[in-house]
Amino acid sequence: MKAPFKAKISMKLVISLMSVVVVSGISSVFISLYVINKNVMGQAYDDVQSNLNTARHIYNERTKIINMFINHLSSLGYLQAAILQNNRSLLVEKLIEVKRELGIDIMNITDSNGRIIARANSYAVFGDDQSGDEYVKYVIDHKKSCAGSDIITRDQLMLESNELADQAYIRVIRTPRARAINKTVEVNGLCKKAAAPIFSGGRFIGVIYGVKLLNNNFELVDRIKKLLFKDERIGGYEIGTVTIFMDDLRISTNVKNRNGERAVGTQVSEEVYRKVFERGDVWLDKAFVVNRWYLSGYSPIKDLDDKVIGILYVGILEEKYNRVRRNATIFTLMVILITAFIAGLLSIYLTKSIVTPIQNLVEASKQLTRGSFQKIEVKSADEMGYLCDTFNGMIDAISERDRKLKEQTEMQMAQSEKLASLGRLASGIAHEINNPLTGVLSYSTVLYEEMKDPEYRADVKVIIDETLRCREIVKGILDFARETKIDKRPGNLNRIITELLSIIEKHVNFQNIRIKKDLAENLPEIYIDANQIKQVFNNLAVNAADAMHMGGELTIKTEYDGEKKKIIVTVSDTGSGIKKDNLTKIFDPFFTTKDTGKGTGLGLSVTYGIVQRHNGTIRVDSEEGVGTTFTIEFPVEPAGNGTEKKQ
Ligand SMILES: Nc1ncnc2c1ncn2[C@@H]1O[C@H](COP(=O)(O)OP(=O)(O)OP(=O)(O)O)[C@@H](O)[C@H]1O
Ligand SMILES: [Mg+2]
Repeated sequence: MKAPFKAKISMKLVISLMSVVVVSGISSVFISLYVINKNVMGQAYDDVQSNLNTARHIYNERTKIINMFINHLSSLGYLQAAILQNNRSLLVEKLIEVKRELGIDIMNITDSNGRIIARANSYAVFGDDQSGDEYVKYVIDHKKSCAGSDIITRDQLMLESNELADQAYIRVIRTPRARAINKTVEVNGLCKKAAAPIFSGGRFIGVIYGVKLLNNNFELVDRIKKLLFKDERIGGYEIGTVTIFMDDLRISTNVKNRNGERAVGTQVSEEVYRKVFERGDVWLDKAFVVNRWYLSGYSPIKDLDDKVIGILYVGILEEKYNRVRRNATIFTLMVILITAFIAGLLSIYLTKSIVTPIQNLVEASKQLTRGSFQKIEVKSADEMGYLCDTFNGMIDAISERDRKLKEQTEMQMAQSEKLASLGRLASGIAHEINNPLTGVLSYSTVLYEEMKDPEYRADVKVIIDETLRCREIVKGILDFARETKIDKRPGNLNRIITELLSIIEKHVNFQNIRIKKDLAENLPEIYIDANQIKQVFNNLAVNAADAMHMGGELTIKTEYDGEKKKIIVTVSDTGSGIKKDNLTKIFDPFFTTKDTGKGTGLGLSVTYGIVQRHNGTIRVDSEEGVGTTFTIEFPVEPAGNGTEKKQ
């Protein structure tokens, strides 16, 4: 029985606790993964966005510097003078010097109509009309400087130098997922341009402009990359890359192809092209760049008319964030796993701490039903501990009651055995004495009647009286030994007690004694020998009075216990009480503590015998100096069962 019980409770507990652990574990795994992914990727795109912003800033800063120089040059007096004097050689010389210093590719001056006066590259070529150039045109129209990005045609480049035209030349490499184009080479260039008006004495006399060709010039992209990513690498791959597109073509980049060369000439994916190029939006997303996944940011490059002509790109290798994500995930999973493991152990421990005392209780209860009083160890101060404590208290109470009960029954058994053998002995003697006593009595009576001498007559009277006393004693012995006849009829104990009390309360012995009656009204009639029962209560009342010669209270109480079908009568006094040692002897015939001649010690023996003959029991509780209570129980037997039972 123990095993299934144990299995049930502990299994239930373990399962319920573990299910909490598992459910919360699984949900925290999902929540953590979601949060990690969201945070890492959110952080990643923040990085991409801010890197793209920085790149844009550097890109624009370059244009501003060129613009600043051009503006500075336009204000130089000797240049203005040289223009007015048409001193071309001075102008050319100055332009070549400035072009070298600034590190730009084209440095030209036109007249107020946009015709070239001086050019730094092919200085022999001049007079060509540049008023069609958007920037030059803007300066002529507005008499204000301007700067920005622009497309420069091969023709324009050829005018400057073959080297520049060659630098711009890019072979288009077919790229998967890119927009379909039918050109195989790109000959135009993407450039930065700044132009400023030249005035002399308030008169507009010309335009000075500078151009920096971006095709195949990697200085800018590499500088941006170095600033943003410091040449960091993951798994041999550079963590960050920067590209400048013209249209959708890579014209300057540090993205490498499979051969480790710069992927110049490859295209951006069509998806990005549509969004950034055609709609002018910024794009932030994962993108497959040449051969790896990058978290990418694309920003449009616009010309003076706000038309998109190129794209600036910054990408961060996704692997970087994958690593962060992987590490965070592993760490989180480890924490969750360890926590779940600890929670699991805890739940087993908890279950054990709950189930063990229950098992102990069950075991102890089983022992209890087998009659062995086993206490359990109280380990905790909680409800379980309280329960164990209460159980132990119960064990104490039961074992104490058991002990008392055993003691009492043992005592009663010893007593009744002793009294039974005493009874047999006494009745034997009494029978033997009875006959000679009858002889003595009848002869002494005859003698008494015939005796004339009053002196002798008195002596014979003594013989008669003492013989009568002996006969009383013999009768008492026979009463005790249940040898007297018994005449049971239906009777009411309350009535017998009331009759008796009305007689004895007048007796001189009861002068100082208050008699209290507490009689139950529902007392059923039982089969009794009224005279003998009267004798029982008389004996008890007389003993009580003897124990209270200084006065006191005598209480007679009757009760009916319907469940046990018993009438219980208690006779209590507030007298001297009985010494503990004497408690087992008081029912013995001839046991008395009274002076010789005062008591024969037969009263309680006779009482005992009569109660036995009514199938009842009698017991005593007494405390010295406090009082004594005799309790008699009579069975209420069904009618017709009232015949005497001899044991
Ligand atoms: N109510 C009582 N209070 C104190 N002691 C008692 C009481 N009843 C009985 N005893 C003790 O029990 C003894 C035996 O009582 P029991 O009635 O058998 O004999 P007795 O009273 O001494 O003599 P008898 O009754 O034969 O005249 C008494 O001597 C007394 O010591
Ligand atoms: Mg007596």
